[in-house]
Amino acid sequence: MQVGYLQFSPSYLDVDANLQAVDARLSSLEVDLLVLPELFTSGYFFHSQEDLTQVAEPIPGGRSTTALRDWASSLNATLVAGLAEQDGPRIFNSAVAVQPDGTLDTYRKVHLYYEEKALFTPGDLGFPVVEVRGGAKTSVRLGLMVCFDWYFPESARTLALQGADIIAHPSNLVLPHCPDAMPVRARENHLFTVTANRHGEEEKDGETLTFIGTSEVCDPTGTILKRGARDCDEIGIVNIDPTKARDRRLNAYNDVMEDRRPDMYTTPEEEVS
Ligand code: ACM
Repeated sequence: MQVGYLQFSPSYLDVDANLQAVDARLSSLEVDLLVLPELFTSGYFFHSQEDLTQVAEPIPGGRSTTALRDWASSLNATLVAGLAEQDGPRIFNSAVAVQPDGTLDTYRKVHLYYEEKALFTPGDLGFPVVEVRGGAKTSVRLGLMVCFDWYFPESARTLALQGADIIAHPSNLVLPHCPDAMPVRARENHLFTVTANRHGEEEKDGETLTFIGTSEVCDPTGTILKRGARDCDEIGIVNIDPTKARDRRLNAYNDVMEDRRPDMYTTPEEEVS
């Protein structure tokens, strides 16, 4: 199965330019799963709630999900991408998984980072795992999380406990630690991870955010199969065997999921209440 990321630098609020930028990079790509960055059509460092409202879209039905459906169909691939979702008065920092037949699943970012907390509603749909085509005649279980969710091991673990083979991880990373943390998330949960980050800078009121690129694909042993550059557009695709995520035994005695001891993972306070 061919899996990978598309790393680029979205232009702030310029949805047309961002859709065109992705469109121009997709032609004749051979891939089964391609992950795009968080908020790939809008940029990240919103100057105001009005700016965010201007680019938020209903899912499905907005022009970004329409484009994603067209691309998924023409590439015969599953695409995962982040975008601002308008749902009535609420705006979520969401990711969608779009399959070649148009099937679309949504994740709403649970752990909001920095000023996202003032702009977005925290996700209310949990962490979804969806069945997608994994290459010729196979299917895989694909889990979704977005950027800062990496900081909370419970995110990846919740996806692993639902049987995810691969985690798709659209991102706009600014902290430097995630590219070192994702191999650990992959190893401790025995699955593949695909982080698609953006690069470039955005500025607001004299403050600059620098996005660190370094998109990454990791395997269930924590090996980095592909890592992007910090500061340029890049498509990284690797061939994986997703069934390698399914046997979670380390040796004749240890299975990383079955050896969990949830009865020991409580605090005294929780036991009392
Ligand atoms: C982030 O969650 N975009 C840092």
